[in-house]
Amino acid sequence: MSDKPVIVTDEASGKTLELPVVRGTEGEPTLSIKSLPKELGYFTYDPGFTATASCSSAITFIDGGKGILRYRGYPIEQLAEKSTFLEVAYLLLNGELPDQGEFDDFRRDITYHTMVHEKLNTFMTGFHYDAHPMAMMAGVVGSLAAFYHDRLDMSDPAQRMLAAKRMIAKMPTIAAACYRHHMGWPTAYPRNSLNYTERFLDMMFSVPAEEYKVSPVAAKAFDLLFILHADHEQNASTSTVRLVGSTGANPYASVAAGISALWGPAHGGANEAVLNMLEQIGDVSRVGEFIDRAKDRDDPFRLMGFGHRVYKNYDPRANIIRQAAHDVLAELGRKDPLMDLAMELEKIALEDDYFVEKKLYPNVDFYSGIIYKALGIPKSMFTVMFAIARTVGWVSHWLEHHNNPTPIGRPRQVYTGPVERDYTDISSRG
Ligand code: SDX
Repeated sequence: MSDKPVIVTDEASGKTLELPVVRGTEGEPTLSIKSLPKELGYFTYDPGFTATASCSSAITFIDGGKGILRYRGYPIEQLAEKSTFLEVAYLLLNGELPDQGEFDDFRRDITYHTMVHEKLNTFMTGFHYDAHPMAMMAGVVGSLAAFYHDRLDMSDPAQRMLAAKRMIAKMPTIAAACYRHHMGWPTAYPRNSLNYTERFLDMMFSVPAEEYKVSPVAAKAFDLLFILHADHEQNASTSTVRLVGSTGANPYASVAAGISALWGPAHGGANEAVLNMLEQIGDVSRVGEFIDRAKDRDDPFRLMGFGHRVYKNYDPRANIIRQAAHDVLAELGRKDPLMDLAMELEKIALEDDYFVEKKLYPNVDFYSGIIYKALGIPKSMFTVMFAIARTVGWVSHWLEHHNNPTPIGRPRQVYTGPVERDYTDISSRG
């Protein structure tokens, strides 16, 4: 593809317009269509934004055809092998890997902000015991703005960074509190002598009656999963956070909106849906039946954890997570029939013409639930795990937006409702 502008001709008026090509450092060339409405009088129509770049961003790069994912230029495989979640969080927020001093400061800041206001725990008790934790997360995270109303001057970069760190620090505390509310367990306070994932697991599973020791296998697995889920450029929830942020809304409200977007089964909610699906299939002998259902246009059933808007190749995160699922089960000395089922499903789907032609591969959500289940996380909390990690991406994009603001997000529409008509009195209707 060349960088020459694309000339658009409106046959009706005979007018032509040059649309400049916008190039990033990598990725597909993009046409700037900003001048189109003013010069030719047309808007563009792209439901679901399948062909639209909504912003420019220097955080994450995906090449969906090749199955490449990089955070700030670093391949996900290298980060997964060599880095830690907190270091990746620093990288996504700041653009560079930290030196030791920068990392120590960052870790201290995040650790310092792990507690939540005691009144937030009171607020939590208002939820019914069986409330879905994602509903609680959206409500509780949104309510953080009420606790920090004196620190919401979004024109101040220091306050923006403080809000971002607060959210990364508090998300595990809130997530664990949602789980404990459901279990009827007393509040667990963060133990700041532990690292990020150990602290989270301790808040999830420790009870006053017994000694609890965090499993190193679990802490390591969570660190890896959090790295892999930390960011994924302009996915639906991140785009939501950026859109809400573009209105000038505070970061807590913006992230609460992101949590709501993530909950959908077509997005982060798929990890819970995958486990439900595997349980529904039940046995390897029924895989063919469900593959047929997934291919049937008249059947709403779809293979959860399969397909992706951007990847038309293997999602590189799914590869890493599948191996991690094997490793975790082996280290725990367990077997899970759902793992065998998932692998059989993947094998059959990848040999099937329907999935091959449509380039449908396992995505990040396909194998993650197997690990969560092995580590004692209930299904309803799976998407909460995703939300803890993705908070880093959300706040990184929110900060990036504020550092270089675009106008308020405000798409147009193709109106298909009634044309103008006159009001009639109720007595003369029908
Ligand atoms: C995430 O965007 C991100 O980056 C998201 C994410 C992140 O990190 O933020 O990667 C996380 O959300 C992963 C995706 C989790 N969702 C699922 O696993 C749900 C199942 N998958 C899908 O519903 C679907 O594949 C999407 C939502 C993921 C992608 O939707 P698209 O891009 O709109 O693709 P599509 O629905 O237009 O599908 C193209 C074709 C369609 O068939 P045709 O109309 O062309 O005949 O493929 C079919 C679809 O029906 N198809 C599937 C399928 N996924 C797509 N058929 C069967 N099973 C599937 N899973």
